Amino acid sequence: MKYIAPSLLSADFANLAQQIRTAEIGGADIIHCDVMDGRFVPNITFGPFIVEAVRRVTKLPLDVHLMIKDPQNYIEQFAEAGANYISVHQEEAVHLNSVINKIKNLGVKAGVVLNPATPINTLDEILSDIDFVLIMSVNPGFGGQSFIQSSISKIERLSKLREERGLNFLIEIDGGIDSGNIKSIADAGCDIFVAGSTVFKADNIAAAVTELRNLANK
Ligand code: DX5
Ligand code: ZN
Repeated sequence: MKYIAPSLLSADFANLAQQIRTAEIGGADIIHCDVMDGRFVPNITFGPFIVEAVRRVTKLPLDVHLMIKDPQNYIEQFAEAGANYISVHQEEAVHLNSVINKIKNLGVKAGVVLNPATPINTLDEILSDIDFVLIMSVNPGFGGQSFIQSSISKIERLSKLREERGLNFLIEIDGGIDSGNIKSIADAGCDIFVAGSTVFKADNIAAAVTELRNLANK
């Protein structure tokens, strides 16, 4: 089973509840929330206050992607706001093991994010402790960027490693996902597909989600 996670970054925040409902009608599985602080990435979005508001308008799992400095200081706030999945960047979380434990102890699924230039082997010691790995297929910060092709082989290698070690973490991809590339990424072993502009900049949001979902599960 493959899951589609529309990213709110490209949604119309003046009509957020309605936009989420439309994505749900199209078959969205998860709602992806991009938290940016203007320090870890050169853009600012929103914090736990908005995640809590989103929590009130949908029953779908909320996937909170933390692109912030010192993520360990904000885990409780996002868990309380209603996050079901929280991911922190390998490049920023210095004490990765303790952050992961903090997330899991709050009953939230814990993930680690790898930027395009960060190799998979940085997760060697922690792979068996995490619920999911998020592979960035653009440099984080903005929606609407083009997919970095080498991400497909990264997914393949990670998927192979998962099999070899008999682990069952999920593999998620984020950045530049569209109807032209989703099938090959699914074939490489990816489970969760984040899509921002392809969903929320489409004329028909529901149809865009349905199309991605069908292609990923083909
Ligand atoms: C980028 C964010 C993504 C973003 C993806 O830093 O992490 O989640 O919303 O947007 P698209 O799908 O437009 O590349
Ligand atoms: Zn994201």
